[in-house]
Amino acid sequence: MGRESEKARQRKMARRAEKERLAASGSLVKLANSVPDLMAELAAFRRYDRRGVSVALEHRNVGDLSDAELDAMLTICRDNMRALYNSCEWGWNDKEKRGEMTESMAKYLVARDGDSKIVAFCHFRFDLDYDDEVVYCYEIQLTKPYQRSGLGKFMMSILELMAFKKQMLYVRLTVLKHNDVANNFFKSCGYVRDKTCLDDTIYQTYCYEILSKKNPRREDVNVGNVPQISASKSQQQSCT
Ligand SMILES: CC(C)(COP(=O)(O)OP(=O)(O)OC[C@H]1O[C@@H](n2cnc3c(N)ncnc32)[C@H](O)[C@@H]1OP(=O)(O)O)[C@@H](O)C(=O)NCCC(=O)NCCS
Repeated sequence: MGRESEKARQRKMARRAEKERLAASGSLVKLANSVPDLMAELAAFRRYDRRGVSVALEHRNVGDLSDAELDAMLTICRDNMRALYNSCEWGWNDKEKRGEMTESMAKYLVARDGDSKIVAFCHFRFDLDYDDEVVYCYEIQLTKPYQRSGLGKFMMSILELMAFKKQMLYVRLTVLKHNDVANNFFKSCGYVRDKTCLDDTIYQTYCYEILSKKNPRREDVNVGNVPQISASKSQQQSCT
């Protein structure tokens, strides 16, 4: 009897601790989402002038982007990804992609050339993903002339700085298994298969997998819940 009530007490304490952890995670995400200019603290990263490439980088919330700017980014994404999407069950759909790109939580890291033309972008969000506070990278897309210039790696470094400065546990992303360039790229940036897709029996049937990088400043990095069931619809859509 005494042992039972001790167990019940411990369960109650664990539930309370989990509730408090979730509330703290939600507060961190809310705080990060309220920052108007995430590049303000990263002045040294506002330009990339290397390997024949010269661009200016800025943070924009989706509401600050014009229709023309969103169209330009959709075009970059379509040019890079349509064939890859069409060669798996995702299929390319302009309307769906634009819908995803314009959801209210969407944030952008935008790279512009000397004429202010958008030449690369990264769509990301501060969010709770499987109860973990994360930056989810929805896209990183560079126009052809800017690829293999180190710019992609530079932009991922900025994303990581933004995420980890704001105490997110992970930068997480979805990658198509048959996108060899992206897989090589993310591997070279230090991304590994995420705990949410370690169940091989489920994930081997999907055309994508989830990669992540842990926040080295967070010692409690393994605290989130690992899903016991198959991947969510949102994981499938939030892709790169
Ligand atoms: C994937 C992408 C973002 C990478 O950015 P990038 O500026 O081209 O890549 P980087 O120059 O920073 O490369 C960093 C490392 O990634 C790897 N890599 C990048 N492109 C590669 C390629 N085409 N083939 C093999 N490895 C590649 C290399 O290890 C490279 O290091 P190295 O140049 O010293 O060998 C960019 O090529 C792109 O926009 N591709 C099309 C869209 C896409 O697939 N996006 C990713 C999924 S959303």
